[in-house]
Parts: sequence; structure tokens; C-alpha cells
Amino acid sequence: MGGAGGRALADVFVTRRLPPETLAPLAGSARLRVYEDEARAVPRDRFLREAAEVEGLLVLLTDQVDVELLAAAPRLRAVSTMSVGWDHIDVAACTERGIGVFHTPGVLTETTADLCFALMLACARRLGEGERAVRAGRWPPWSPFAFAGLDVHRRTIGIVGLGRIGQAVARRARGFGMEILYAGPRRHAEAERETGARHVPLEALLAAADFVVLLAPLTPQTAGMIGAPQLARMKTDAVLVNVARGGLIDEHALEAALKAGRPWGAALDVFQHEPAPADHPLLALPNVVAVPHIGSASVATRRAMARLAAENLAAALRGDRPDACVNPQVFRLP
Ligand code: DGY
Repeated sequence: MGGAGGRALADVFVTRRLPPETLAPLAGSARLRVYEDEARAVPRDRFLREAAEVEGLLVLLTDQVDVELLAAAPRLRAVSTMSVGWDHIDVAACTERGIGVFHTPGVLTETTADLCFALMLACARRLGEGERAVRAGRWPPWSPFAFAGLDVHRRTIGIVGLGRIGQAVARRARGFGMEILYAGPRRHAEAERETGARHVPLEALLAAADFVVLLAPLTPQTAGMIGAPQLARMKTDAVLVNVARGGLIDEHALEAALKAGRPWGAALDVFQHEPAPADHPLLALPNVVAVPHIGSASVATRRAMARLAAENLAAALRGDRPDACVNPQVFRLP
């Protein structure tokens, strides 16, 4: 059976149940197989079997698209991920095989920046500790320094990676009257003008910031970029916030540093291995706020991400070139 304009339908595997209307962009151009579970990732053997037969994959960040999978997928032409991060995909191996990789930047920017601020506030103002105490019947009589934490307003934020989300965090920081520093390989003149952010070396940022916010992508260059030496540069009353990827931080070093009192606290949306087990050593520390990788988790934003991932895949399978392409080189291959 043909698709729109008489084109043959492409076979596509979607690795998770998504709201059907978000997959509508694929309707005219693809024959969909969907792993009908919303809560759990597709088992690896099923993923390999499905990948062997399709031209397009719509994946999540829980699905590893690696050399093993690509070797099992001779017909594959496009991989579209419902995430802005693509560290679960071997992009170089896809490029070598002429497979386009697409992601969902833009639609999750503001939602993720909101969560980043929520984490900063939660850690600084000890919301987790306070909430646990109230629920456990450990609400002490009001006293001058019970649950007293740190101010956020008018302090210094250091943003590591001033991309779209970093800039959205900077705009919020401006509203809190904060001084804004950023580190990263490139200057962002427009964002500097808009928010007053100043570009500084990472070492200077770590030494000056009251809130160090990690928003860099996870790459071989950034993996483990915050280890013992970097933590030792932070202030004793600083907070480390990670809404990017757990692999940016050496978690053993962070545990030791927090126990030693530098930095003051950490707020983590992401861990090196997810889901983090309940006995993860960082979760035993009262000065750690942890949430389960929910940076972009508003209903509206998750729908927008799913829809954009479907649109990207539909366009790629039609032979168009979606904007949100991670490896545009594939369009120049013979
Ligand atoms: C992403 O998109 O990469 C986030 O980690 C989940 O929204």
C-alpha cells in the first residue's frame, strides 16, 4: 500500500507508547509498530528484532542506538529521538552508514529552565528536608535557624553551557537579580547583551559562583568534567545543580566533597546510572535534592517533544531535511 503522493510506506518502530495524536505526522508516510508500554523501556532483544526490519526508529533516551543495533538494522535510514540529548546514540556510527539522527531542541527549553530554578530553590531553601520532616511528624517548634538555608536572589550563578536552556536559566536569574557567569567553548554575544552574562574560564566560574549549574551536553570531552579538583574550587556555601546528564559529574568525588562540606549542597535531576537505586550513597546525604530526570516533564512539553520527534522522522523518511538534525553531514553524502 502506498502513502501520501503514491510513495511507499516506510516501516517505523516506536520504542514506547506515546499519545496517538503525537504520532499523527507519521500517518501518511509510515507503517508504525509501537512497543505498547509507557512506563518501561523496550527490552533489548525486542529492540534488536524490530530494528532489523525498519527504515525509521523513534526512540527515547533509554534506548541505546549503538554499533550492535546498527549492524542488525540494514534498512535503517533515520533515527529520531524524543530528547534534546543524543548521548544514547552513536552518532558517528550512524553518520558512517548514512543514517540521519534527529532530536527535539527548542520545545523543552523553558520547561527545563523552570526545573533548574526549582532545584536551585529546593536545595538552597532545604525544601526536601522540610517536607520530609513535616510528613514524618518531625516538625519542630518554630525556632530562629530551623531549616535555615541560603538565599538565591542577588547571588552569583555560574552556567556551564550557555545553550538554549542555559540562556533561559540566565533570563530567570536576571529576574532574581543575580550576577550571571558562564563557561563554555563559545561566546554568546546576544545572550550577554540580553542577560548581562559574562564569559569566564571554568575555573573562575567554579571559584566565584554560588550556584554552579551544569547544562553541557555529555560528550567524550565533557564526561567527568566535574571531579575532585573542580569541586575543591567551589565555595563552601555553593550549590551544584545538574539538569544535563549524570555523566558530567564524578559521583564518588561529589559524595566525598559534600561530606567534607564543599560544596554546601547538590541538586540533581540526573544520575550516571538511571534509575538511581534507593541505596545510592548520594541519596543518604541531607544536603542533596534529587528528582528522577524530570527536567522537561510537563505534559505540554512532553507532548511537544513526541510530536516534534514524529515530525522529524516523517520529514526524514520523505527525503526532506529536518532542521533538528544532529549529523547534517549525512545529507551531503553521495
Ligand atoms: C533531554 O531531552 O535530553 C532530556 O534529558 C529529557 O528531556
